[in-house]
Amino acid sequence: MTTPIAMTFVETDLDALAGAEGRLAVLVTPDGKLDLAARRLNKLTRGALARLAESEAWGKVKPGEGVTLAWPAGLAANALKVVKLARRATAEDARKAGATLAKFKGTDALTVCAGTARAGDLVLGLALRGYDFLTHKTAPGEAPKGATIMVAKPDEVSAEVAPMLAVAEGVFFTRDLVNEPANVLTTKDFADRLFAMRDLGLEIEILEEDEMAALGMGALMGVGQGSDSPSKIVIMQWKGGAEEPPLALVGKGVVFDTGGISLKPAAGMEDMTMDMGGAGVVAGVMRTLALRKAKANVVGLVGLVENMPSGNAQRPGDVVKSMKGDTIEVINTDAEGRLVLADVMWYAQDRFKPSGMIDLATLTGAIIIALGHENAGVFSNNDALCTAFLKSATAEGEGAWRLPLGAAYDEKLKSRIADMKNVGARDAGSITAAQFLQRFVKEETPWIHLDIAGVASVKSDTALAPKGATGWGVMALDRLVRDHFES
Ligand code: BES
Ligand code: MN
Ligand code: ZN
Repeated sequence: MTTPIAMTFVETDLDALAGAEGRLAVLVTPDGKLDLAARRLNKLTRGALARLAESEAWGKVKPGEGVTLAWPAGLAANALKVVKLARRATAEDARKAGATLAKFKGTDALTVCAGTARAGDLVLGLALRGYDFLTHKTAPGEAPKGATIMVAKPDEVSAEVAPMLAVAEGVFFTRDLVNEPANVLTTKDFADRLFAMRDLGLEIEILEEDEMAALGMGALMGVGQGSDSPSKIVIMQWKGGAEEPPLALVGKGVVFDTGGISLKPAAGMEDMTMDMGGAGVVAGVMRTLALRKAKANVVGLVGLVENMPSGNAQRPGDVVKSMKGDTIEVINTDAEGRLVLADVMWYAQDRFKPSGMIDLATLTGAIIIALGHENAGVFSNNDALCTAFLKSATAEGEGAWRLPLGAAYDEKLKSRIADMKNVGARDAGSITAAQFLQRFVKEETPWIHLDIAGVASVKSDTALAPKGATGWGVMALDRLVRDHFES
């Protein structure tokens, strides 16, 4: 498992700066005012910081970014980064500064003179951008050294940082799951990794195929029937609140999506190892909630299946019966995520009577056409819950954009021979997918569907993640729980 680098918080020690090994960093405000640590570094470097702060170049540095002085005279460090950050920086800028430091650090030791800055957000940025998935590199190189953060009040900062590190660990857990190839992260391996979270105080149950069959989960089971890996549903309960009903988080966990008999083209099919991204986010959020001992009741449910073509595979044209009792004509076996979610969502509502339900899924390629990799698609039957979520996502810098639902879209799902079919036409593909899901949402359940196909894993670096799995959504959902579901 990939874990954030070790961080130590110490009181600012000016006399230690000259001898600090590895890499050294200091924060300077946009107007170029040097604090105590910066002044000491300025003296040691015989005026280099003051020259930088007064230069035209400094004016052009963006907040959260910086200037590197390599092999600086007067310091043992091999480089000194001067990062621009206001005293009362926004969370976003402080995280960006942390990300700048993570890139500057590499695997070297790092000492940061953080003074009185927003250390929590700075550290979160440093932790998140420092992620690297090295599990399958046989020569991963030296283990990354830790970071020493010098601050005015180390005790206060340690307390502020603890829940932030819980978030970072949740995000790392999600990223590892999403980056993992499908021969390693089978349905069984996935369930085992979740089961191990028992140690954090989560209650974990695993539903096996015989139990699903008894519950009548024909929609989910049809998807997994072509695979040698057994389908599983993992239920993770965090009971940190009082007696109130839980918030339910439901994740699509297709460990690999070949498309089934409606086979996908070969080019790019390897990307479908990330088709369990929704389940990965649910797992990461549950981990964060447990690590920071959230005062809320939240249940996470993930449907783990593999969509394979084989002699046992589901065929286009098959009709399956969902746990709800509605029948579904499977026009396209590649529209499998909605079939999985239909049964898990129904089970979640049937058993837990949740106060709200949020599902996450890498559900449609169409959402990438609509929103690219900047925003997840948001669909909801409840304006209050949806607004709260969008606010949380904005606060955490995770792009999210609401799209409509409506009866005219739902019409597209009419089937000649069953209660519905699993695809509409080509147009509005993400919306018809959401409409399909809504057929399995009870009227009284406030619900949000998040289509994360475009944001779960990306091909270029983002502000807080290297290319690959992003962990999108862990922070927004943790924030939503914190702001609206904690007592
Ligand atoms: N897992 C895919 C969606 C997807 C596409 C995720 C690209 C990430 C990147 C999903 O199961 C799928 O195949 N959807 C089909 C639906 C269609 C058959 C109606 C799609 O989007 O093409
Ligand atoms: Mn598919
Ligand atoms: Zn899929």
